[in-house]
Amino acid sequence: MSDNIVEVKDLRVHFTLKSSLAQDAAGRRKKTVKAVDGISFEIKQGEILSLVGESGSGKTTTGKAILGLVPFEAEKMLFRGERINLKEKEYKRKFRQSAQMIYQDPYQSLNPRNQVIDIVTEPLVVNKLVESEEERLELGKEALERAGLTPGEDFFFRYPYELSGGQRQRVVIASSMIMGPSFVVADEPVSMLDASIRTGILKLMMDLRRENDLAYLFITHDLSLAWLISDRIAIMYLGKIMEMGDSEIIISSGKHPYTKALTDIMPKPGIKKEGPRKVLQGETPDPTDVIEGCKFCSRCPIKEEICSKEEPPMKEVEPGHFVACHKV
Ligand SMILES: Nc1ncnc2c1ncn2[C@@H]1O[C@H](COP(=O)(O)OP(=O)(O)OP(=O)(O)O)[C@@H](O)[C@H]1O
Ligand SMILES: [Mg+2]
Repeated sequence: MSDNIVEVKDLRVHFTLKSSLAQDAAGRRKKTVKAVDGISFEIKQGEILSLVGESGSGKTTTGKAILGLVPFEAEKMLFRGERINLKEKEYKRKFRQSAQMIYQDPYQSLNPRNQVIDIVTEPLVVNKLVESEEERLELGKEALERAGLTPGEDFFFRYPYELSGGQRQRVVIASSMIMGPSFVVADEPVSMLDASIRTGILKLMMDLRRENDLAYLFITHDLSLAWLISDRIAIMYLGKIMEMGDSEIIISSGKHPYTKALTDIMPKPGIKKEGPRKVLQGETPDPTDVIEGCKFCSRCPIKEEICSKEEPPMKEVEPGHFVACHKV
């Protein structure tokens, strides 16, 4: 049996933007954003795959699609080797226990009117997994303490506004972990936190991974952070994966011109950069533009004629290292 916890093949999420009455009357076609446009990857049990890319590249949409939070099309979308079927009630209940999402802004993902103990134990209550109030408080205390909020009972009756940013993100993590998930989509989980707090939250996430053999899809625009924490990195641009492979390989010998542009401006401790840094020219195209050929073409420093005509296929250039570029 495969040790993949998640397997995605040719995932697509296209959003049709609502047109105004005036646009309808003028006979203009509805615009489509191809937020995710045919991507494939796997995540192994206990593995961290980081999705890295600039704003609007489709990272969050990818995470939401796996969790069934946006409509999608895919040739394959498997969780532990089974098709994700959220129409089936019993399957959905189990899936919701095993796969969780941690969002960027801990304040928005916490109900400001609820006390910490109710927030943290809500998944247990909704899924009818506690038999008494005593058991609920005990499990809540345990989850808070595992998330570094000790002693747990000191936090029970506080409201989110009474907590610091770091404590709020710990509450979010405690509530995500209380069901014992095996897969977590972490969407920029530390980007809103002060640098001094980030390390503690990342350490907590890594400890939980080790203790529970958790797999993460870790979403970030910060390549250095991805390098620090992940086993593998996938570089996204306009809904496509441009390159994917072991973190070390992507950072030290990425082959796609977009990866190279990103790694070139990345500070690497201990490695002195020779010559000037190459800054990527141009702007990301409008997401509703229809792009023939390679999505990166308009900004690519090494493009050739074929690049604007044919979309490059994903090639495995060495075992486990994939690149979508005509020139590689
Ligand atoms: N519900 C929606 N309706 C229409 N367009 C959407 C919707 N959700 C996302 N998009 C568009 O899809 C594209 C990808 O968005 P997404 O949020 O996945 O990007 P992202 O990589 O997570 O960006 P960021 O780093 O800013 O969070 C963007 O152009 C976005 O505007
Ligand atoms: Mg996002």
